Amino acid sequence: MMRAGWTGAVAGLAGLVACTPAPEVTGRALYQDFCVSCHGASGQGDGPAAAGLAHRPADLTAIAARNGGVFPMVRVMSVIDGYTRRGDRASSMPELGAALQEGPLVLVETGDGVMTPTPSNLVALAEYLRGLQR
Ligand code: HEC
Repeated sequence: MMRAGWTGAVAGLAGLVACTPAPEVTGRALYQDFCVSCHGASGQGDGPAAAGLAHRPADLTAIAARNGGVFPMVRVMSVIDGYTRRGDRASSMPELGAALQEGPLVLVETGDGVMTPTPSNLVALAEYLRGLQR
C-alpha cells in the first residue's frame, strides 16, 4: 500500500516536470505518503492506523524534548531507515530505507567528521521532523 502511494507520487511528479531531471520531493510530501497513517498529521502519533498497533507510534513533535532539547538528526534518520533496529518489528516502526532510496545521495556528517552518503529523501524527512519539534 505504501509502495503504491510512492509510485503514484513519482509518476504524478514525472508527468508534471518531465523536463526537470530530479524533481524535488519535499519532506512534507514524503511524510504524507509514508508516515501520516501511523504518526498522524500533527506528528503526535494519532494517525488512523495507530489504533491497530500493539505499540503506540512515537510522538514525533517531542523527539528533541525527550533528548535533552537536542534534535538527534542522525539517530532519527537511522530509525526511519531501519538501520537502528527497534523491538517488536511486526507491530512497530517499519523499516522505510528501501522506499526512500529514490533520488540523489547527499553527504551527511554522521559523527566524528565522518561524511556518509545518505539518500536525500531521508534527509528531507528528518529535516521535516526537526521542524515539527515543539
Ligand atoms: C506502521 C506504522 C508506522 C509508520 C507507517 C511509521 N511509523 Fe514511525 N513509529 C511507529 C511506532 C509504533 C513507533 C514507536 C515504537 C518504535 O519506536 O518502534 C515509531 C517510532 C518512530 C520514531 C522514533 C521516535 C523516537 O523518539 O525514538 C521515528 C523518528 C519515526 N517513527 C519516524 C517515522 C517516519 C519519518 C515515518 C515515515 C517515513 C514513520 N515513522 C512511519 C510506527 C510507524
